[in-house]
Amino acid sequence: MSLPSSHPEISEHKHSGKTCPVTGKGHEWCPPQPGDSRSPCPALNTLANHGYLPRDGKNLSVFDIISALKAGYNLSTFLAAFLTIGGFILLRRLTNVDLYEIGRHGRVEHDASLVHRDTSEGQKYAPISINQRLVDRLIADAKTGDEEGEGPEFGDRRILMDASDVARARIRREKESPRLDRMHAEIARGEMAIILGLWETKAGNNAGVPVEWVREWIGHERLPKDWKPTHVQGFRDVVRRSAAIRKAMEEQRKAEAEQVGEKHPPNVRSGTQVYLT
Ligand code: HEM
Repeated sequence: MSLPSSHPEISEHKHSGKTCPVTGKGHEWCPPQPGDSRSPCPALNTLANHGYLPRDGKNLSVFDIISALKAGYNLSTFLAAFLTIGGFILLRRLTNVDLYEIGRHGRVEHDASLVHRDTSEGQKYAPISINQRLVDRLIADAKTGDEEGEGPEFGDRRILMDASDVARARIRREKESPRLDRMHAEIARGEMAIILGLWETKAGNNAGVPVEWVREWIGHERLPKDWKPTHVQGFRDVVRRSAAIRKAMEEQRKAEAEQVGEKHPPNVRSGTQVYLT
């Protein structure tokens, strides 16, 4: 994983348990070291990078993950347990896991990820390397300026990512990949719905997650420096936000289809002559 440009170089070292020989016993960020295990999930990798999970990302129990989700992100016990137990059921695992095992293709993991390439033909596990061009595309989707005070001219600081921005990004990625089944499409929306609830910030009439936080987290797997938990993130709020992403996707797809329809009315598009009586 690349270091954020602002971060001092860290020389190679070994992780075991939650303590890091360089950053100590606390929750300072340290990137994975050679031999550490990581997954395609930015949330779990971030917890390991901050020592809420064992920093080597190995031998994790359901309870390790539930308590790390609560301590690191302030999730409710129910939401943390739902995500983790649900994840283990889909993974068909009863025993502890290393983070890379969570990325078993087709279980929880799916194509059309926001910042990871699709799993190549014949591979059992998804790629874990973050594609920084996809990170840029995700941020650009939030900068299309559909809300007042947004647009590239304002830089990252004023841009807030909301459900309609996530919908735009999901539609783009789902066009670039094989079709997702319903369950994986739902999982993909839920992943970002959690973050929209967790880090929602208000600025004037707008509400959303500051895109520099999204970039720090999804691009460098680091908790946003100036985030302080303001509430316990609950299950129902995530369901509501996930539904809002789905609705925004339906509306955007419909608007897109209408635009295509206006440019190419069916009789012209098909190239066949239509006789009106
Ligand atoms: C705070 C809780 C969590 C949040 C906010 C979260 C968020 C995310 C996000 C945004 C992605 C998409 C990355 C991308 O599209 O490139 C992702 C991927 C993934 N997450 Fe999590 N996650 C959470 C917890 C979990 C848990 C508990 C598990 C399993 C036990 C899990 C398993 C996965 C897997 C397998 C992927 C890869 C899916 C893909 O193919 O994109 N996540 N997560």
